[in-house]
Amino acid sequence: MSAILGLLQRDHSNISRLLRVLEGQLADFETSDPVDYDTVIDILDYCRSFPDRYHHPLEDRVLKVLQVRDRDAAERVGDLAGQHDALAAETERVLRLFLDARKGAAIPRDDLRRAARDFVAHYRQHIEAEDAFFFPAAKKALREEDWENLQNAWDGPADPVFGDREQEHYRRLRREILTEHRSTGTR
Ligand SMILES: [Fe+2]
Repeated sequence: MSAILGLLQRDHSNISRLLRVLEGQLADFETSDPVDYDTVIDILDYCRSFPDRYHHPLEDRVLKVLQVRDRDAAERVGDLAGQHDALAAETERVLRLFLDARKGAAIPRDDLRRAARDFVAHYRQHIEAEDAFFFPAAKKALREEDWENLQNAWDGPADPVFGDREQEHYRRLRREILTEHRSTGTR
């Protein structure tokens, strides 16, 4: 399997882990008072600074090659860039909401919960659709040289949470993920 496709699939599994952690925080919203907003904010901040900036643009580039190699399959994938823009806008909107709440704005807890729950649902739907059709179609249609070209043009950084050198900024989030790993046995 191409290294680029492996990278994209690993990103999906990392993002899915974060969505599970986010869901766990939402369960706390039902019971605890006051709410700890930091983990939710860190996850949304990560989505803005890594998937939105590097993962989604790389997928957009893969789709451009798929359009050349298999136009029908690319059409079935649809407007991936538009979906990515919508996810980025939603990420930004929900992040603002939680940042305001953390600063003390009077935002009903139900509104926060609903916004975060919708965010998780939309991200999951998007990832599942890519895993189910886009990645297999790319794997089938792209040639070795296409993957090599994508690889050579790729200049993204290591993942700031899951990479070998996590960023200081995400150290707390990394601890949350390890806790989730221990409590569920998932990875
Ligand atoms: Fe993706």
